[in-house]
Amino acid sequence: MLRGKKVLIGVTGSIAAYKVATLIRFLVRKKAFVKVIMTEDAKEFITPLTLATLSKNPVHYLFTDDKESGEWNNHIDLGLWADVFIIAPATANTLFKIANGHCDNLLMATYLSAKCPVYIAPAMDLDMYKHSSTKENIDKIVEFGNRLINPEHGELASGLVGEGRMAEPEQIVEVLETHFESNVPLKGKKILISAGPTHEAIDPVRFIGNHSSGKMGFAIAEEAAVLGAEVELICGPTSITLDIAGVTVVNVTSAQEMYDACVKRYATADVAIMAAAVADYRPKNVADKKIKKENQTNELVIELEKTPDILKSLGEQKHHQLLVGFALETDNEEANAKLKMEKKNLDFIILNSLRDKGAGFSTDTNRITILDKHNNILNFELKSKQKVALDILHKVIEELNA
Ligand code: C5P
Repeated sequence: MLRGKKVLIGVTGSIAAYKVATLIRFLVRKKAFVKVIMTEDAKEFITPLTLATLSKNPVHYLFTDDKESGEWNNHIDLGLWADVFIIAPATANTLFKIANGHCDNLLMATYLSAKCPVYIAPAMDLDMYKHSSTKENIDKIVEFGNRLINPEHGELASGLVGEGRMAEPEQIVEVLETHFESNVPLKGKKILISAGPTHEAIDPVRFIGNHSSGKMGFAIAEEAAVLGAEVELICGPTSITLDIAGVTVVNVTSAQEMYDACVKRYATADVAIMAAAVADYRPKNVADKKIKKENQTNELVIELEKTPDILKSLGEQKHHQLLVGFALETDNEEANAKLKMEKKNLDFIILNSLRDKGAGFSTDTNRITILDKHNNILNFELKSKQKVALDILHKVIEELNA
């Protein structure tokens, strides 16, 4: 559940700050990305170096680490980066600041600008925790929409016994896992995705291929897994790798191999998204030895034959599956894409135009239009392929729930 999730931890000045080291270890072990910000007082309890080493990211506590250079630690970026922000431990002082919007440090500025869900794990001595002003602040904090991770009853640093111990790291991890579990709309769904180019052999050392990088298909696979899907990614020759729970990568080379791999898995899939740039033609006869130029005249003619159209075959075999294809067009884009959607029996088609700057092969961005079988046309802005993947998957979720 936590793999690939971005967790921002805000540490304030309480002895319970030592527990944050363990919390970070657990999160990193579960493959979450962790960033830490601290208050000045928190540094008295645990060093930024410790937390930076464990989180594998620099730890910030000031708006600027180097006044001379004018570079600053952008609290807005940090807030936007995070999928979840957890303030742990949260002292009585920080609870007051949160309740009153008292913005006097990097942590508070980040809190006020964060758009993600915020969890707060208070830690203090029992009488501080029981105090009416603390209770009032907590009520206000929860009213604002923040989520409280209640402190536990037990031995406190003062030697007293009572309520106020910060929740243990294991419990905080559980809270975060439950948080992300409730946000997995593709849980239980099997998604088949094709990606990358295919290589069609001419002889043992040469092939016909194309410039597809596979980035779009890989981004869809990754985001689908994060949304809870079980993904089988059938991918042609590409330099990209993906090691993420929920994605099984099947490497293939030719259109025929991709066809076989897709057809084999299609019957049990709930959704198939064909993002591969499959070669349309392949050499009819593959030479079993390297073709020597000495044996040729000035011209070498290679006879080509059609490869199987994987997407069309899946359209013909379709019963319960949601089937999605891509169309890369250079002219008459929408009409061509619509035709393709109908011919291949798709539920929707994602149109890329090579006329759009930043869209298409090898770029990190894409600009798509989605045309669906209900005659809807959805236009999207130019975005990162990761965000485009999310737009596509939101459309998948909408269609599955329709
Ligand atoms: O017909 P065209 O090749 O333009 O269609 C593109 C769509 O069809 C893409 O989704 C691509 O992955 C899929 N396709 C396929 N098998 C082929 C050719 C294209 O699955 N042989």
